[in-house]
Amino acid sequence: MEACADNVLYQQLDSVMEQYGRSPDSLIQVLHRGQELFGYLPEEVLQYVAKGLRIPISKVYGVVTFYSFFTTVPKGKHTIMLCLGTACYVKGAERILQRLKKELGVELGQTTSDHLFTLSAARCVGACGLAPVAMIGDDVYGKLTPDKMIRTLKKYR
Ligand code: FES
Repeated sequence: MEACADNVLYQQLDSVMEQYGRSPDSLIQVLHRGQELFGYLPEEVLQYVAKGLRIPISKVYGVVTFYSFFTTVPKGKHTIMLCLGTACYVKGAERILQRLKKELGVELGQTTSDHLFTLSAARCVGACGLAPVAMIGDDVYGKLTPDKMIRTLKKYR
């Protein structure tokens, strides 16, 4: 069943490459679409793109590792982006980070075993006046404390 769903996704990825005339210059756009389709970029997808665009796999890896918006590991349903920029840091972001790690049982960059949350960090999300700040998806939460952060997570469970 899953293989079928995967086949459809590969077909869609194929038509994306076709749309770009299988040009090696379309690598970033194709990878973007691939990540949208699969949710992340597993090894097989990278191989598929390399073959489809006739470029060395090493080049595909290079691009995927260079741009932080590409991910080769599955993401959770919600991404928690905790700001660790200076303004947030001096207002206690580190304590929130420790609490989140403990509560979720993950390190930065990891996803919870129930696939609900991925924990990540940002340098500044442009809301320093609200420090410390975290984003969950597109929602911004400011003036956080460790307790408030944990309470906020409940809305997403
Ligand atoms: S440093 Fe956190 S929002 Fe700017």
